[in-house]
Amino acid sequence: MDGNGRWAKQRGLERTEGHIAGVEAVRRALKAAATEGVEYLTLYTFSTENWGRPKEEVDGIMELFCKSVIAETPELKAQGVRAKIMGDRRALSEKVNHYIDRIESETAEGTRLTLIFAMNYSSRHELTESIRTMAERVAEGKLSPAEINADTISQSLYSSEYPDPDLIIRTGGEYRLSNFLLWQAAYSELYFTPTLWPDFDKDSFREAIEAYGNRERRYGLVEPK
Ligand code: IPE
Ligand code: MG
Repeated sequence: MDGNGRWAKQRGLERTEGHIAGVEAVRRALKAAATEGVEYLTLYTFSTENWGRPKEEVDGIMELFCKSVIAETPELKAQGVRAKIMGDRRALSEKVNHYIDRIESETAEGTRLTLIFAMNYSSRHELTESIRTMAERVAEGKLSPAEINADTISQSLYSSEYPDPDLIIRTGGEYRLSNFLLWQAAYSELYFTPTLWPDFDKDSFREAIEAYGNRERRYGLVEPK
């Protein structure tokens, strides 16, 4: 979800205003995803690198998350959405952790769509944690190096219970993954759009899904799978 800051700047607003407008876009994207039959929607909400932004902006994003949990949970429940958080929760404040527990437990029964917020997430951090844990288990004699394979690695990541993404959409005009789901994206289709996240609407979502529909996924083989 990139482009909130630029969206705000274009309007002479504070960056935080862009993040507030971004929440509106989340609401729209979620609705569009559910309509399209998407079962898992993962939102790159806050990266481990985002801590380096001005404190005021970081605090604003965290506060916005907590407020949005209160405001949106009833609608998520009504829509059958199960919300989950993916990332290293240790560096998140007690208050944010409280709201994470709250949104996860209150929406636990949702079966229509799983909405995953990547919070204090980065792929290298996720992989580093996973490799350290596996190394410890090997050192303790609980894991044999021969048991380490692509499946066991996938199962050791924050995303263990979710399928790999079919489609990754990046808004805001940059052509990079910025430390997002690097392992999981091995065969994901990538879609880049110059549209700034607060302007991303249901038609933008539809266009991305249509582009995905025209891709031929071969997974290294000769024929589409
Ligand atoms: C949203 O966009 C990213 C986060 C949710 C932290 P940015 O805040 O990166 O917006 P730009 O790139 O400055 O426009
Ligand atoms: Mg950005």
